[in-house]
Amino acid sequence: MNLTYECPSKEHDLDACVSILCQAFASAPEGVKDWIVNKCDWRGMRTARADGRTAATLLLLPMGQYFGGSPVPMVGVAGVGVLPDLRGRGVGNYIMAQALREMRRDGVPISSLYPATVYLYQRSGYERAGSHFEHRIPVTRLPQLRGVSPARPFTPEDLDAVKDCYNRGAHLWEGAVQRGTYIWDRILHARAGPCNGFVVDGPSGIEAYAFLRQDRQSSAFGRHEIHATDIQASSPLGARSILTFLAGYGSMAEDLVFPGGGALHPITPFLPEHRWLSLRLKDYWMLRLVDLPRALALRGYPAHARAQVVLDVRDDLLPENTGRWLLTLRDGHATCAAAPAGPSDDDIRCDVRVLAAIYSGFISPLCAYAQGAVQGPMHALETLAALMPQRPTACFDFF
Ligand SMILES: CC(C)(COP(=O)(O)OP(=O)(O)OC[C@H]1O[C@@H](n2cnc3c(N)ncnc32)[C@H](O)[C@@H]1OP(=O)(O)O)[C@@H](O)C(=O)NCCC(=O)NCCS
Repeated sequence: MNLTYECPSKEHDLDACVSILCQAFASAPEGVKDWIVNKCDWRGMRTARADGRTAATLLLLPMGQYFGGSPVPMVGVAGVGVLPDLRGRGVGNYIMAQALREMRRDGVPISSLYPATVYLYQRSGYERAGSHFEHRIPVTRLPQLRGVSPARPFTPEDLDAVKDCYNRGAHLWEGAVQRGTYIWDRILHARAGPCNGFVVDGPSGIEAYAFLRQDRQSSAFGRHEIHATDIQASSPLGARSILTFLAGYGSMAEDLVFPGGGALHPITPFLPEHRWLSLRLKDYWMLRLVDLPRALALRGYPAHARAQVVLDVRDDLLPENTGRWLLTLRDGHATCAAAPAGPSDDDIRCDVRVLAAIYSGFISPLCAYAQGAVQGPMHALETLAALMPQRPTACFDFF
């Protein structure tokens, strides 16, 4: 089978892409067409042709992701699909490998995705690097507090202040997305149905907001669930105010359901009855270090950190990443360059995949060592653990 990797033409290839995506995700053609044409940037669409026939799609979504408090440019991968009759013949491997080579050429430091199946992406050098939870709590268990600020309806003029509210806190959450138009559009105009937005004003602008869709239960009498596409608060008063506002739905609403990156969410510490909160693991997200030295240099580290570690990394798909890398931290500022001649007994040796999971704080180098996924002396592993501490990851957004 002769495979080629292409930037498809909207004019000629749209129907073929829609057909692949419909068959991959059991979606209706109108919805898929609307997604590709109106929600996505077509310039991110890639296809693989097998003997001239459009056989596979994927979509590249440039954004950023916070690690160690700093935003790292990231390309999200979505819409990976292969025609049913061509599956199991290496087309998925091929299109992922080509997309990663393209990202590497373009200097992209990292890439993330939500996997429907893990092995394909592990083969491409991604590793599970964080979780995505659905949080659920009965609305009647939300606090009804006095002395909080009122919520008011969101208007389009509020959008910048809403983004500020998210941005004020996002960098504190390991793996939170630096959102672009694509993610904000998913929050404001959810595919599942129209949302109403509400905001809480405070001295520093909007201090909390929620975008809500009311999902009526078929059991009648108008009882319903409230599905939030996003809830954020950037101050304790904001969190208490938005929770008190949401409690006002309690006469008719059953559960409040909202997405969260990890076990913690900015509003959950303010719940008075957290035992009513349930969390369901919806997915893991996976991370790929595409340009390893850039990825290491661009992420944040503990302020005032002074350290050096040598990482001896193996990357079967992107050989540019293979080798010994010296990561140097001076007062929290990082550089990463090819290590001087070695090898040395102080080196930490690992695959690029496990390093991605350490990078995000999903596993500690010491756990990875205990599992046999990393080799190296204890003092070097402890240094790496201090630089990239294991922390709750929190990618709030699905893409
Ligand atoms: C998942 C999908 C893209 C894989 O494409 P494909 O062309 O069949 O994949 P390949 O033949 O290149 O196989 C890639 C590797 O992943 C493994 N793999 C592929 N599909 C798999 C599956 N459904 N379950 C487990 N492993 C799978 C293969 O064993 C192969 O491993 P190998 O290289 O060691 O042999 C394709 O099956 C598909 O379109 N599925 C429906 C939509 C979907 O799930 N998309 C992914 C969304 S994140």
